[in-house]
This record gives sequence, structure tokens and C-alpha cells, in this order.
Amino acid sequence: MLKLNFPSFPTLQTDRLILRSHSLADAEALFALRTHEDVMRYINRENPKNIKETEERIRQVHEGYNSRISVAWVVAQKENPGKMIGEIGYYRTDLANHRAEIGYMLHPSFWRKKIISEALHKVVSFGFEEMKLHSICATINPGNNASRQILLKHGFKKEAYFKEDYYFQGKFLDSEIYGLLNKNWNIDNTF
Ligand SMILES: CC(C)(COP(=O)(O)OP(=O)(O)OC[C@H]1O[C@@H](n2cnc3c(N)ncnc32)[C@H](O)[C@@H]1OP(=O)(O)O)[C@@H](O)C(=O)NCCC(=O)NCCS
Repeated sequence: MLKLNFPSFPTLQTDRLILRSHSLADAEALFALRTHEDVMRYINRENPKNIKETEERIRQVHEGYNSRISVAWVVAQKENPGKMIGEIGYYRTDLANHRAEIGYMLHPSFWRKKIISEALHKVVSFGFEEMKLHSICATINPGNNASRQILLKHGFKKEAYFKEDYYFQGKFLDSEIYGLLNKNWNIDNTF
């Protein structure tokens, strides 16, 4: 079984971004993200009903990290590290198989500026080099072309297509699975 031996929370930095741990002070920004129609269009999760529910989610993120079964970061700009503009993380892990699922979202005011590309590159590098993952996967709603394109640009390959395997709000939805193996990861990949 792979062990996530973080001695302390792994804050990461890129040229423009700081990837830091969640704080309860992020609840309002996270609530705005997770209730934004354009952000949630293909996420297919129930929106939080209020800030309290969002705080509960932040506590769950902390619990996942404290028990070393998952790790997720707030995406913020270096010039304004307190302001959450997005989220990225390994929310679901399969440590027996040295595998983790990556997820991400960004506030639409910041779309198409290569922000998630920058964060994804860092988090994938961290996943392979520090967490010692063997593979990283991502599950998308097949309608989510933005997410598909970003994954392809970072070297992920389509691994599977499941028909109507996901029940959400009275409908059975398809899922597309993308994967990247550690041995196929190119850290010099430009995006
Ligand atoms: C998907 C998402 C995270 C992309 O973030 P972003 O920072 O805007 O993406 P980037 O600027 O790094 O884009 C990288 C590449 O992804 C693709 N891409 C991004 N947004 C796209 C869009 N709306 N349509 C088509 N391709 C898109 C492009 O290939 C882009 O490269 P280019 O700008 O050179 O053409 C953002 O659109 C988002 O938060 N969407 C809602 C949440 C979501 O669906 N998350 C994924 C769940 S699986």
C-alpha cells in the first residue's frame, strides 16, 4: 500500500500561483465557485445549500489530508494569496494501486489564462515525484470539452468510456476516463 508521508501540508508554488491548504475563511469563495452555473455545468454534484455546508466540505478536505488519504489545494494568485480563485486536488485515491484521481475548477473570471494548466502541471509533478503515484486519472462528463482538452494537452490518454454509469438528479450519465502513467509523464511538457 502506498503511504502519503507528508510531514506537513505541501504548499506549492508556480510562476503565478500559490497552491495552499483550505481555510474556513475560503468558505465564501468556495461557495461562490460551487454554486456557479458555468463552473458546475459538467461537475454533476449537488450544490452546497449554504456557507455552513461549504464549511463542512472544507472540514472533510482537512480530514482527508489529516488521515493521509487525499490532498487538495486552494488555487490563489501569488499577489493575492488569501483569495481563492479555484481548487485542485487528489480528492479520491486508490493507494493500494498507487493511483489517484485529479479534479480541478476555476472561477470563470480567470478562465483561458492557463491558470489550471499551470496548477495541473505542478500537481501532477508533485503526484509522481513526491507522492510516488504510479498513475493519475480524471473522470469527465463527455460534454466537458474544456476539461478533455486540458487533460490531452498534459499527456493524459483516454482510457475508458462508461455508458450511463453515473446517476445524478434523475438521469444516468456517461463518464469518460483519462489516465496518465508516471513513466509517460514529461515534466518538460509545455502547455
Ligand atoms: C476546465 C477548466 C478548469 C480550465 O481552466 P483554465 O485555467 O481556463 O484552462 P487553461 O487556460 O489552462 O486552458 C488549457 C487548455 O484547455 C483547453 N480549454 C480550456 N478551456 C476551454 C474551453 N472553454 N473550451 C475548449 N477548450 C478549452 C484549451 O485547449 C486550452 O488551451 P488554449 O487556451 O491554448 O486553447 C475551467 O474551464 C473550469 O473551471 N471549468 C469548470 C469546472 C470543470 O469542469 N472542472 C473539471 C471537472 S472534470
